[in-house]
Amino acid sequence: MAVHRILVGIVGAGPAGLLLGHLLQRAGIESVTVDIRSERHVIERVRAGVLEQTTVDLLREAGLGARLAVEGLRHEGLYLAFGGERHRLDLADLTCGRAITVYGQNEIVRDLIAARRAAGGRILFDAGHVALSDLDTDRPRLHVRTADADDTFACDYIAGCDGFHGISRASIPPSALRVYEHVHPYTWLGILAQAAPASPELVYCLHDDGFALFSMRSTGVTRLYLQCASDERLDAWPDDRIWRELRARLQMHDGWVPNEGPILQKGLTGMRSFVVEPMRAGRLFLAGDAAHIVPPTGAKGLNLAVADVWRLARALDERYRTGSDAGLDAYSDAGLRRTWRAQRFSCWMTSLLHRSEGATDFDRRRQLADLDYLVHSRAAMTSLAENYVGFPLA
Ligand code: FAD
Ligand code: DHB
Repeated sequence: MAVHRILVGIVGAGPAGLLLGHLLQRAGIESVTVDIRSERHVIERVRAGVLEQTTVDLLREAGLGARLAVEGLRHEGLYLAFGGERHRLDLADLTCGRAITVYGQNEIVRDLIAARRAAGGRILFDAGHVALSDLDTDRPRLHVRTADADDTFACDYIAGCDGFHGISRASIPPSALRVYEHVHPYTWLGILAQAAPASPELVYCLHDDGFALFSMRSTGVTRLYLQCASDERLDAWPDDRIWRELRARLQMHDGWVPNEGPILQKGLTGMRSFVVEPMRAGRLFLAGDAAHIVPPTGAKGLNLAVADVWRLARALDERYRTGSDAGLDAYSDAGLRRTWRAQRFSCWMTSLLHRSEGATDFDRRRQLADLDYLVHSRAAMTSLAENYVGFPLA
């Protein structure tokens, strides 16, 4: 078994791990990134689509903006729909010109892998076995077995970017962590359809049958989500049932309805809130979904992961340039502050727009009153807009 010396070991080649490797490389800090899945699997996994203004600015400044500028769809507004009517919120007007951009997470991952490869960065996909050891020392170790080799990396620091089910968080003694968790009693059924988007902006909709969301990936591909029961099975949803339910929830009184087309992909997503405190144990730093999960209604998960690795890269750069640990010591508290703010917003958007099984008539009327207030009060709209487009990095 070969033992290599490396400054930073990165576990996970999702958006968090890949972007961290890229930012470190630009700062001249050598790293290695390992993932248990194949490159193809990592690229093709269909997930997030909404990028905050902050995320777009960061990707552009990091030299990752070329394809994003051409293929990303900048949205300066969004619709909230209920009672068969769509109400537009002008995000740009409410936030001094800020906006969101629709660009698939898999496209970001594709761009990041290309940039890492072009710069000679090391990414090991298809690792059959990944493990951490020596976490309570100054030289934590990352062990990786692939089809070709069995390697150990002796690192200064390890970044746990391996998502909710990874090994990094699980390698920390439970007594060193505090976990906060809430499982929301809903599931999203998501589809990608070969159909031109029927609206240039997203539509978040509350209907008596539950939540529905109209989104998109490109000028030819529509992305749609439906709230369904928490124990739902995909085989209970043949294509015609999905379209029937989407039409029932999203058809507006003015006749607007999403365009339909062949379904290219479908999947179920559970709705969970999860935060671990602190985001650090010794020289192991957790980032992205490894440290926190938010329900997808606020479109925050990927954006939080980007903010984490921006902060971690900056702190490591400061450590290597000046010898100061100040940024690393502040990493967890600053991340948790942003995380809880995103958690609050995502939980609020979720309860605003979903129908829970035990809801009474009173609950339903109050929920509609919340939405009615929201679309008629500039103060309420501004609060949604500033959270949705995202706060500056800090
Ligand atoms: P991941 O993307 O989960 O990457 C972790 C990587 O680690 C994976 O490649 C995995 O293979 C690897 N890994 C796992 N275990 C190991 C191991 N033991 N060793 C090595 N590698 C390992 N967010 C938004 O901001 N906007 C949205 O619009 C949005 N919509 C969403 C819609 C859906 C349906 C879903 C499911 C999520 C959505 N999200 C959204 C959330 C977003 O996709 C995640 O927050 C984001 O993927 C987090 O990135 P990450 O790199 O932290 O984790
Ligand atoms: C998408 C996903 C979300 O969770 C969301 O809130 C908005 C859009 C999407 O996949 O396009």
